[in-house]
Amino acid sequence: MAPIIRIRDAKDHVGEVVSVQGWLQRRTGKGKINFLRFRDGSGIFQAVAFRPNLGDEKFELVTSLTTESSAILTGVIKADERAPGTPGGYEMDLSDIEIVQVAEEYPITPKEHGVEFLLDNRHLWLRSNTQWAILRVRAAVIRAIRDWLDDNGFLLVDTPILTPAAGEGTTTLFEIDYHGTPAFLAQTGQLYNEANIFAFGRVYCFGPTFRAEKSKTRRHLQEFWMVEPEVAFCTLEQLLEIEEQFVSYIVQTVLKDCADELALLERDTTLLQNVLPPFPRISYDRAVDMINEAATQGVIVPPNDEPVPAIPWGEDFGAPHETFLASKFDRPVFVTHYPTQVKAFYMEPEPGRPEVCRSADMLAPEGYGEIIGGSERMSDPTMLEAAIKKHKLPEDAYGWYVDLRKYGSVPHSGFGLGVERTVAWLTGIHHLREAVPFPRVLGRLTP
Ligand code: 4AD
Ligand code: MG
Repeated sequence: MAPIIRIRDAKDHVGEVVSVQGWLQRRTGKGKINFLRFRDGSGIFQAVAFRPNLGDEKFELVTSLTTESSAILTGVIKADERAPGTPGGYEMDLSDIEIVQVAEEYPITPKEHGVEFLLDNRHLWLRSNTQWAILRVRAAVIRAIRDWLDDNGFLLVDTPILTPAAGEGTTTLFEIDYHGTPAFLAQTGQLYNEANIFAFGRVYCFGPTFRAEKSKTRRHLQEFWMVEPEVAFCTLEQLLEIEEQFVSYIVQTVLKDCADELALLERDTTLLQNVLPPFPRISYDRAVDMINEAATQGVIVPPNDEPVPAIPWGEDFGAPHETFLASKFDRPVFVTHYPTQVKAFYMEPEPGRPEVCRSADMLAPEGYGEIIGGSERMSDPTMLEAAIKKHKLPEDAYGWYVDLRKYGSVPHSGFGLGVERTVAWLTGIHHLREAVPFPRVLGRLTP
């Protein structure tokens, strides 16, 4: 019995006879030779089946293999730069094969399929090379997030998913029945994070969050993953320094650790290489001026090649505004001091200018829009109580949140980074639905 290796490690076994267990992606060739493009979850390589090496009986087995058949291949690993479909450049000279199952006719073929068909078959689509590469990048993003936070003094403190009140506005709540009492799926862990900083100083929560978004866009999911760091004794300006270090680390780590995956996705990484601190900072006021100037000049933005729409001061940005703003910079940009009226109730107003708040969104380049929303939090109990009233939120449900401002209140700030938006940006995919294994988009709950 040859030792079983994973394809990713083939480079360490050149010249050795080894076995690989996996699935056939494609079989080509005729006559005495067949080429098997084979994957085992860790990578893809080519196995060459040559009739004189395998013997007639085993070679006939090879020619019976259909797409997605499972098998154990045995043979010598060779380095071959030209090996097609093998990002690592290694192949196997087959000397033995054990078939585990000859697969039924596989519904996903190399021809173009509509996206609804692919989403109906998401449980199978996951096996395709592009989806495999995207989800490996996702895992690398999550690993980088946790490594950076754990190494920089942030403690992981989990926050609940079943919650009694809105965290981020009442229009996108998923309501559920909590034994006869209405409850909601968490839109954010932030409010609980704010309690946790008074115990631990710097914390983060990381988990699925839920928003009943009523419109279909390429940037919105109903269920998405968000990491939310929160920091005591931290102003907005200090928060932005943390954010730019954090995002730069994630991007540079993914470039280093996922070079094969990004190459497979044909991602041009030129702009990603720039993602190093400091990031530019512009105010909302300045951003509105830039947008309206562009609107007057009829500037066009992708992906629909529409003109940038003008915007009155006080409105939130739409996707074309964010795309245009980000296109003016060579790395992510912070837009700060949004109008208080478009942001959540808990944001600290700017002293002397209460119509804007101490908030900042980070906009990613290349049309990916907002990847981070963050702010300094209101630290005064009386002001916070007034804000809760003004937003018509149930005061009872927020008593504990106001309490935090009564016992050693401090300036504090935090932010949330959307994992799927970050993955979509880094992999260069158009729609967030491919950045998560089983997407929950409006109108779809299966598979
Ligand atoms: O700007 P948001 O709504 O901020 C918060 O939830 C704050 N409580 C975070 C905090 O300060 N602790 O969301 C933060 C990020 C967005 O920038 C975006 O990346 C992502 O979460 N996001 C979504 N991603 C996918 N689908 C959706 N429907 C999303 N809504 C927000
Ligand atoms: Mg936001």
